[in-house]
Amino acid sequence: MAELKSKDVLGLEHMSADEIQLILDTADSMREIIDRPIKQVPTLRGRNVLSLFYESSTRTKISFDLACRYLSAGAVSVAKSGSSLDKGESLRDTVRNVEVMGPELVIMRHPSGGAPHYLAQNVTSSVINAGDGYHEHPTQGLLDMMSVRRRTGTLEGLKVTIVGDLFHSRVARSDIWGFQKMGSEVVVSAPSTLIPPDIEEMGCRVEPRVEDALKDADVVCVLRLQLERQKQSFFPSVREYHALYGINARRLGLARPGALLMHPGPMNRGVEITTDIADGPQSIILDQVPNGVAVRMALLYLLLGGGE
Ligand code: CP
Repeated sequence: MAELKSKDVLGLEHMSADEIQLILDTADSMREIIDRPIKQVPTLRGRNVLSLFYESSTRTKISFDLACRYLSAGAVSVAKSGSSLDKGESLRDTVRNVEVMGPELVIMRHPSGGAPHYLAQNVTSSVINAGDGYHEHPTQGLLDMMSVRRRTGTLEGLKVTIVGDLFHSRVARSDIWGFQKMGSEVVVSAPSTLIPPDIEEMGCRVEPRVEDALKDADVVCVLRLQLERQKQSFFPSVREYHALYGINARRLGLARPGALLMHPGPMNRGVEITTDIADGPQSIILDQVPNGVAVRMALLYLLLGGGE
């Protein structure tokens, strides 16, 4: 039987196409549970999950909580505010205390890249990375692939265009690794100051003009301008960013007819995306969210041995 190779899900860079396929297939089954009137199954009854969210979150946090509830796992959550991190406790000491309390699976969102990896090396529990710094957001990458695959039937041969703040985006890194492993071509576009220097080493193509990047795209993934992470100015003004890179109906029209429009949320409406297309017929933004619950249910199931 196919299975995940690691006890942890820390990123998509080192995950195989077979593992991604297994997760997406399992998530499709989980989506059927979410669509039922009674959404709870006893699969993980008696199993315990701990969530450590040291950065704010709406979608990821709620969807992990719902995933636990729908699979009947016990869930305990800790946020930075209200935890002993506020008193200066180190990540190492937090980790040692977590380990002795014995949760079988730990979910971590952290502002520092690599923090969930450190946790995974120091606990016997499984660890899921719920977003670490600018590094990776693997569950978002998986739900993005699931959302596209459910519409197109395949990821093979698609052109996926990612536009926006690539420099600060962990979503972009997971999407780039994931979609390419599943046979899609990934093209990116942003002001040069918002493109990480190593991006072409990841195998994707950079198009400086957004119009060139969008031409004949099957999927347009718009990234949030992460103004809260920008201590220096990466472009002259938000207005100029919108004029040159904002995705609107005219620019979306350069993609293939019926191209799918995605955004991981939260959106800056009127900055990186206009409201008419965010809420328009090509948008699958609100379908990404329940697919996120399904992907997280699939990972809990696969990592906690729900099939045994
Ligand atoms: N997409 C995403 O990670 O959203 P949240 O920050 O609300 O979890």
